[in-house]
Parts: sequence; C-alpha cells; structure tokens
Amino acid sequence: MSTNRPAAVVVLAAGEGTRMKSKTPKVLHEIAGRSLVGHVVSAARELEPEHLVVVVGHAREQVRGHLEEHYAGTRTAVQEEQNGTGHAVRMALEELGEAPEGTVVVVCGDTPLLSGETLRALADTHAADGNAVTVLSAEVPDSTGYGRIVRDAATGAVTEIVEHKDASDAQRAIKEINSGVFAFDGKLLAEALGQVRTDNSQGEEYLTDVLSILREAGHRVGASVAADHREILGINNRVQLAEARGLLNRRLLERAMLAGVTVVDPASVLVDVTVTFEPDAVILPGTQLLGATHVAEDAVVGPNTRLKDTTVGAGARVDNTVADSATVGAGASVGPYAYLRPGTNLGPKAKAGTYVEMKNATIGEGTKVPHLSYVGDATIGEYTNIGAASVFVNYDGEAKHHTTIGSHCKTGSDNMFVAPVTIGDGAYTAAGSVITKDVPAGALAVARGQQRNIEGWVARKRPGSAAAQAAQAGPEGSAVES
Ligand code: UD1
Ligand code: CA
Repeated sequence: MSTNRPAAVVVLAAGEGTRMKSKTPKVLHEIAGRSLVGHVVSAARELEPEHLVVVVGHAREQVRGHLEEHYAGTRTAVQEEQNGTGHAVRMALEELGEAPEGTVVVVCGDTPLLSGETLRALADTHAADGNAVTVLSAEVPDSTGYGRIVRDAATGAVTEIVEHKDASDAQRAIKEINSGVFAFDGKLLAEALGQVRTDNSQGEEYLTDVLSILREAGHRVGASVAADHREILGINNRVQLAEARGLLNRRLLERAMLAGVTVVDPASVLVDVTVTFEPDAVILPGTQLLGATHVAEDAVVGPNTRLKDTTVGAGARVDNTVADSATVGAGASVGPYAYLRPGTNLGPKAKAGTYVEMKNATIGEGTKVPHLSYVGDATIGEYTNIGAASVFVNYDGEAKHHTTIGSHCKTGSDNMFVAPVTIGDGAYTAAGSVITKDVPAGALAVARGQQRNIEGWVARKRPGSAAAQAAQAGPEGSAVES
C-alpha cells in the first residue's frame, strides 16, 4: 500500500519569516548542512511525487536560485502577495495547470524535522481511509499560535481547524494542533479552495478551512496523529532554529550510534545530514563533522576537531584538527593542532603532526611531516621524513609553484623549498637549507651560509655585560683573549 505515489507535493515557502530578523529568507536558513526548505524537499522526494512544487514569494529569486542549484527537478509557483496558505496552494495548482488526479500532499517549508517516513504514513492513512483530506496533527505541550484540531465531542471525528487568533478560550485549551501538513484528494482540494473565504482575523485564505468545507459537503475527513510532536516543529525564530538543530543533531547521532559508532559526548558533537560513518569509528568530544565527511572504521576523531568534506581512513587518528576537503589515509595520524586545507591527500600511515598546515599536497604512504611546517602545492613520495619547521615556499607573489620530493628522503629541519624544485629519491638536505635548485637522487644538499665564530667579540663590544661576565666565568674562560 505504500506504493501510491502522490500526484504532487506542494511546499509552502512564500512567507518572509519576519521573526527571524534576517536578511536571509527564513527557508534558506540552514541546520545540519541543509536549508530548511531543503530538508522539506528531501523528505517530500521520498514520496516520489509526480510533481514537486515549491510556492515562492518573498525573496523568490534567491529561493528559486537555491532550489535550481541544489534540488533540480523541483518546480516553483509564484505567490505575489502572501494572502494565506489557501491562496498559496491555489497558486501551486495554477502552476500545475489542471487539478491533479490523485493525492496532493501539502507541507510547510519551515518544518525541517518532518521525516519522509511520517509523510509516507500520512499518505498511506489517507489512502486506506478513503479520505478527501487527512491532516497530520500532533499533541503538543504548548499549543499557543497553532491551529487547533476541533473534534466532535460525541464521535471524536474531526470537524474543523480553528486558528489561534480566531479560537475561543475553550478551543485554545485544545492540545491537538494542525502541523500544517495535509494529504488531499487533488480534485476536491481544487474545488474547495474556490470556496475559501477571508472573513477571519487575518483576512487571509486559510488552507485549514478546506477541511470543514469538504466535511460539510459530506466528504470523509480525518487526522493522523504524529508519533513524535517534535517532528512538526515549525521554525519562526532563531531560538526554534537552534532547537531544531539540536533535535536533528541528536537524531543523526543516535542513528550513527545504533549503527556502531562510539560518540563519547553527543552533546558536544555536531554532525551534518550528509556525514557518513563506518562501525567502530570513535568520535571524541568537541567535534564538528560537516558536509560530505566520512569516518571509516576504527578511526578516532577529536577531541576539538572540525572536518568538512573530509574522508578519514580506517584506523586513522585525527586530533585537535581543522580540515576542509582533505583525504586522510588508513592508519594516518593528524595533529594535534594541524590544519589540512583543500586538496590535501595524506597517504596510508602518513603523518601531519603538530602545528602543520597542508594545502594541495599529496603525501605518500608512511611519509611524516611531524612538526611546525607548511606544505603547500607539493608531492612527496613514500617513507620520507620532513624535518621540523620546514616551509614549502610555493608563492612568488604572483603565481603558485610546485615542489616534488621523492621517496625515502630525509630533509633537515628548518628547510625552505623554493618552488618549483624537485628532490630525488633517497636524497638528504642539511638543516637550515634554502633549497632553490633541484637535488639529484641520493645527494646531500647543503644550502646555507658558512658559520664564522668571532672570538672575544662580547668582551670587546659588550664589556661588563652579563653576557661578558658569564663568558669569562665559564669553564672555557676563552672570551677574554685580547
Ligand atoms: C499555519 C496553519 C496553522 C498551523 C501552523 C503549523 C493556516 C491558516 N494555519 O499557521 O493551522 O498550526 O501553520 O505551523 O494554514 N505561507 C505561504 N503563503 C502565505 C502564507 C503562508 O507560502 O500566504 C507559507 C509560509 O511561508 C510557511 C507556511 O506557509 O512556510 C505556514 O505559514 P505561517 O504564516 O507560518 O502559518 P502559521 O500562522 O504558523
Ligand atoms: Ca501566519
């Protein structure tokens, strides 16, 4: 029975969302790496509707642009003025041309926690009960602001939905509310919308009136009560935005934990909807996993780490690190205090150690960059060791250049590799070298000034200073030559 595809899903997203107090339209605010409307469109797509129509109005070019970029295949209908939810659905049906044969599901663009599963259950109940309209309702602790579901005292049948502003005190006491999500018979919806009036406190065409219109015309109307009222949380302000973020985050982490991921402190870990894990991954406190990040089995990430669009291989260790669009190989080690920028590709068992920054760099298997270094625009072979405090000098002020270092090299501490430059396999470089010329395989490159000691300089030039006294008192006593 869950094969009945709706003829259309209509997403209402024309409102401004003034309570967000934002230059960004409400439905484009993000939680967990996806816009509010994106969450709703993603859930709607799970129903595989023939048409998916988003009603846009306020900031329509921005909203439309966002949909075209991220949700190709969605259609938009324009509602010039926000004359109410009923009017908005009318605009969507006009965009579709003729009234759809079959089920039309209506959802609001500001309910990001609504799952495809719940939409599916609503569509199934609607079909099984042969209803003209089925509203998704929920029992909420505080029903202030919501439309109330009014039921017949004797039969319990749904009779109407009354908006908060239009409700009597007795009706305001009702805890069962309209989530704003409906399944309709398309033809009957189109007919009833033509009869919706605007004689209410807001002077708007209320979609909710369709329910009583259809009931009075003798059609079956029903309600499907959501299992978890938190799913229908509508976002009107930034307090609710953060609340929804928290609830969604918890849901995503619970799913990961039940699939075998250890999350030591879920309250301090943030994860986007697009992040994936393998069992036995371990996430330590204070970690943010964003975008298309993937954490493979036995990898340990955190504490205090932010990874975006980054792949962490099996058994890798990533500690106190920021990474963006990087790949960390199996068994590799990153941090503490490393920064991997886009294009970093760390091979298996490689190391990017403490205070190491990398960008557009391919580091071969087992190669180590352990301390205080910048590796930009580089290719390094296997099992090479880069000395502490090395800089890949990739920028001449106008263009970036590449450095290539072979396998099994040992480069000294405090080296500058002035690109473009190539170092052959098995080569060594001396500490403090500024490497400007290619180094052949197996050579030792020394590129630094010769050391010169000027004996007695301190006693002559800084007589009586603490340094001069220390030099004189020292075991060598050599600083007092004349
Ligand atoms: C609506 C319902 C209310 C329900 C609540 C659930 C009506 C009349 N009321 O109230 O019963 O409890 O949602 O959250 O339907 N929109 C348009 N065009 C318009 C008006 C609204 O596209 O002309 C869109 C908004 O962008 C929003 C959605 O419809 O995504 C809901 O509108 P909103 O003004 O938030 O409705 P509520 O007053 O919350
Ligand atoms: Ca309103």
